[in-house]
Amino acid sequence: MLELNARSLRVQGERIVYLDQTLLPQQEAWFSCSTPELWQDAVRKLAIRGAPLIGLSAALVLAQYAQHHAPETWQAVSDRLRATRPTAVNLMYCLDAMEACFSAGPSRMIERAAELFMEDRALCQRMAERGADLLAEGDRILTHCNTGALATAGVGTAIGAFAVAQQRGRNITVYVDETRPLLQGGRLTAWEMADLGIRHQLVCDSMAASLMAAGKVDKVMVGADRICANGDFANKVGTYMLAVLAHHHGIPFYVVAPYTTVDPNTARGSDIPIEQRDPNEVRGVAGAFGAVQWAPADAPVWNPAFDVTPASLVSAWVLDTGVFDAAAIARGEHIVRP
Ligand code: MRU
Repeated sequence: MLELNARSLRVQGERIVYLDQTLLPQQEAWFSCSTPELWQDAVRKLAIRGAPLIGLSAALVLAQYAQHHAPETWQAVSDRLRATRPTAVNLMYCLDAMEACFSAGPSRMIERAAELFMEDRALCQRMAERGADLLAEGDRILTHCNTGALATAGVGTAIGAFAVAQQRGRNITVYVDETRPLLQGGRLTAWEMADLGIRHQLVCDSMAASLMAAGKVDKVMVGADRICANGDFANKVGTYMLAVLAHHHGIPFYVVAPYTTVDPNTARGSDIPIEQRDPNEVRGVAGAFGAVQWAPADAPVWNPAFDVTPASLVSAWVLDTGVFDAAAIARGEHIVRP
């Protein structure tokens, strides 16, 4: 019987369950996403979130679906899953991998989905080690959104690097951007930092400039949802602002991601499809703590889930396959798959 365990996703035979990330940290509640419909609901509301986890869970759900449904229906389901969130390319990577084994049948699909899951765990460890190599004793690092175990099958991307640095005995401090509108930093990263025993301080997104001006930030380290052929990358909205600020203050800015986040078919950042979300997410907040709306109910809203950071603002791209500078990116070294 298949058994897989990650911080926010578990598989036991035919049962696929997720930890609802919209309820954290107030409630730790697990729900089923064993059907495409349940998975789509969970992903749309960000109960399942984070680029690698979205892809891995989709692969498992599609493999599970294939056990009980005719092969003629698989492609349509894969297309539906693929369209659920457009920006993070890990979803496309995992579904491409599943579609490539349609002809091998349902058993192979389950096996392949489990391989992707176990691979992600190994990729996390590799990039976390490489990211930790860039962190010095006493570093104070600013991060955005949530890039930890909750968002992957392993230790995470940028947060993975913090975890390894902590294990190595580096005395780091992490500044956690709260990450409006959905507060992945304030709710999830602050919780994971405490869990890992990493010294941290929560800040509002609007405090980043003054934090840097006060000389409190040595490095910025974030994750990514899609890295283009030219090195531009999409990540949670607010990341670009940090890159501009880091550049202004002369602070190194690192992006940490697995090769599954690199999209050789997207030439540049302006080609990345950016998800637009429900205006009510900006008019107020909702979660385990209840719903509060402070803006007028009909206030016009712009709510992109991600923004694009141009390659020119990135000091280094930390992948499982290596640490790349701008010259290596220009040579396309980040596109080479392991
Ligand atoms: O909308 P989300 O919460 O899925 O956005 C997540 C991010 O932007 C992360 O930084 C990204 O997925 C990389 S980390 C695993």
